[in-house]
Order: sequence, then C-alpha cells, then structure tokens
Amino acid sequence: MTELGVTATTNINDLPFRENRTRAWRELREAGEAVRSGEEIVLTSAEAVEFAAKRPDLFSSARAFDRLGSPVPLVPIAIDPPEHTRFRRILDPFFSPKKMAEREPELRRQAAELIDAIAAKGECDVVPDLAVPFPSQVFLTLFGLPLADRDRLVQWKDSILEFTDPSSAEPTPEVMALALELFTYLTEHIAERRSSATGSDMLTQLIQNREDGGMSDNEILGLCFLFVLAGLDTVTAAVGFALAKLAGDADLRRQIANDFSLIPAFVEDLLRVEGPVPFTPRVTTEDVEVAGRIVPKDTTVMLSYGGADRDPLRYPDPDEVHIDGKPVHFAFGRGPHRCLGSHLARLELRLILEEWHARIPEYSLAGDKEPCVHWPTGTLTLESVPLNIKPG
Ligand code: HEM
Repeated sequence: MTELGVTATTNINDLPFRENRTRAWRELREAGEAVRSGEEIVLTSAEAVEFAAKRPDLFSSARAFDRLGSPVPLVPIAIDPPEHTRFRRILDPFFSPKKMAEREPELRRQAAELIDAIAAKGECDVVPDLAVPFPSQVFLTLFGLPLADRDRLVQWKDSILEFTDPSSAEPTPEVMALALELFTYLTEHIAERRSSATGSDMLTQLIQNREDGGMSDNEILGLCFLFVLAGLDTVTAAVGFALAKLAGDADLRRQIANDFSLIPAFVEDLLRVEGPVPFTPRVTTEDVEVAGRIVPKDTTVMLSYGGADRDPLRYPDPDEVHIDGKPVHFAFGRGPHRCLGSHLARLELRLILEEWHARIPEYSLAGDKEPCVHWPTGTLTLESVPLNIKPG
C-alpha cells in the first residue's frame, strides 16, 4: 500500500479549468485516484468519491465546512449523522417533487417573463439577463419574500460567497457590511413570521413545523443562508452551461426545440458533464484506506464530484453530453448530503429550457470566444454567455 507521502501531486487551483474543462478533468484523473493538492487529498475516481461520500463516519462534513466561517450553523450541510438525519427528515418533504410541482405555474410564469424581455431585445447575455435573476426570484417566491428584493439578494449572495470563499483574501468592510445586511434581513423576516404566521410559503411552514421537534430560529436562519450559498449560483451555472452547450450544437438544439420531452435527459447528462460543484470537502475522523492509500486522521479530503462524473470506468464517452440515457450522476452528490434542492433545480432548469425554446428556438454564441468559467472557485460558473437570438 502506498503511503500518503508518495501520493501524486498536483495543485487543483493550477488546472486549466478556465479555458478547457475537459483537459483539466483529464489532467487531474491522470494524476491518480487520490492526489495531493497542497495540504489536501483529492479523490478523483467514481469509486473513491462514492466510498467517501457514503461514509460520513470516516469523512466528516461538520469539520470540513468550519473553514467557511459561517456565523450560523450551516443546516444541514455542516452537520454529520445522526443529527443530520433528523434535519433531512424535517426538510426533505418541503423539497419533494410533489411540493415543487405545486410551484410550477408561478415559477413558469416568472421564467417566461424574463425570457419575453430577452426575446424582445434580439440579443442577450444569458448570465446577467436570466441565469442570475431567476434563481434569486425562485428563492424569494418559495420563502414568501418580496420579489422587489431580488437585486439586493443578488448583491448579498455575491458578498457572502466572497466572504466564505477560502481562496479569496480577507473580506473588505463593504463585503462584511453586505453579509451582515443579509443576516439582518433574514432574521427580521423570521421574527415577523414567528409573531404572525399566516402564509403558505416555505418560511412560515418551516417555522410552524413541529415534526421531530421542529427547527429553532437559528437553525432556520442557517438553512436560509445555505440556500443562498448552495441554491443560487449552482442553478445560475447550470443555466449558463445548458444554453452555451445548445448554442454551440445546432443538431442538439433543434432536437430539443422540436421535442421538449428530451429536456430532462439533456439536463441530467449536462449536469454530469458540466457539474457546477467540482469538489466538496470532508475531514477524516481516523486513518482511512481509500484508493489503495492511507489517508491520516484530520486530513481535508476533496471529493471530486466533477471528476467522478467524467470517470471513463463508469461512463463511456465521459466528456460528451448524451440524451439517449439517464445515467446516475454525481452532480447532486452522493450519500446522506445528497442535494436537498435537486428536484427544485431540475424544475428550474426544465422550465427555463421549455420557455426559452418556445420563444427562441434559433440562437448562437455571439463573439468569437468560447465562454470561460471563473477559476478557482467553489462553483464552476460561466462568466458570460452572449447570444445572438432569432425569436421564433
Ligand atoms: C444545479 C443545481 C445544483 C447543484 C449542481 C447542486 C449540487 C449539490 C451538491 C453536489 C451537494 C452535496 C454537497 C456535499 O456532498 O457536500 C448539494 C447539497 C445541498 N444542496 Fe444543492 N445543488 C443545486 C441546487 C440546489 C438548490 C436549488 C438548493 C436549494 C434548496 C440546494 C440546496 C442544497 C442543500 C441544502 C444541500 C445540503 C444537503 C445536506 O447536507 O444534506 N441545492 N448540492
């Protein structure tokens, strides 16, 4: 068995994700199944990632997310079983496919409104015009908060992402002030619902919920924070990847535009190839054997969901999007921390792609540069997806 010291080394921050994601994932995979990057170990194969994600007793999330320095408990991502199980029992019913389907008409109306405005313009940048505003509107709608707060929420989201990004420098006083504003905004709304809870929105229902002892105000605040951290930029990223992919692939675009029943399969395999969450951290609770190596206790291990999703041993032709199957992918994670919002994310993506192609079946990338992602970052998001569009 190989000792930790001779594990292959690469610095994930130096991989060429910005210009060429396929090359970056290949380079990482070729470096090995358990690769050292600085002080961390990166697991790259589907088998190793699956093992670690399903063993929270050996790979702890609680300790891994401490480094984000969140002022509130990040419910449920930074909590290990068995406590985590109670939170998921409470929360899963709120995000079930059935509950999400109840929101479909209103969310579809909002997607259509944003896309109507784009169709009227004849050109757009998908990122600021659609991919950023829509998930923020969805959050406000689900939690019964005023849609007029959308642009403030986007600003707060950007500041807390900067605040919690381990690779960014110390937050500036402006960033700190904006993060505090979000905290105050959510705290005030929670207090207001506590005193006069009448609505049918998710915030009111979470506050009234008594199942399993219910959730405290501080836990609900932590969940709202996490929703902003985990549920906005991820969808922004996926919308950008989806429209950029279709803009550059006329055959696939025509198939989708002619037959909306292909959209769910497209979304699934797009998420596999272009998963917005490249890595997620864990910390080992004891010496662990994984991918033929011993990883010592207290090591930060990065689970490469993006790498696992392009593992050629699991997926034939791993770098291409296919719409003729429904492979089980890693984009929403594995094990107990599997994404709470996966049904919501799928709904958002399907609504956007349906409403978009009902109005704009023909479009192409504007300019001569391929869209690039930000790197290094926690969420792989295209910076800009400028399109020329021909309304249908
Ligand atoms: C395409 C969009 C999305 C992607 C790719 C995505 C991806 C992920 C991944 C990979 C995880 C697992 C993290 C880990 O193992 O440490 C996760 C967890 C989570 N996601 Fe998502 N997510 C998306 C959208 C959303 C949305 C819309 C919400 C809003 C509710 C959300 C809320 C959460 C929460 C609360 C967790 C933590 C679950 C737990 O720890 O039990 N996500 N997500």
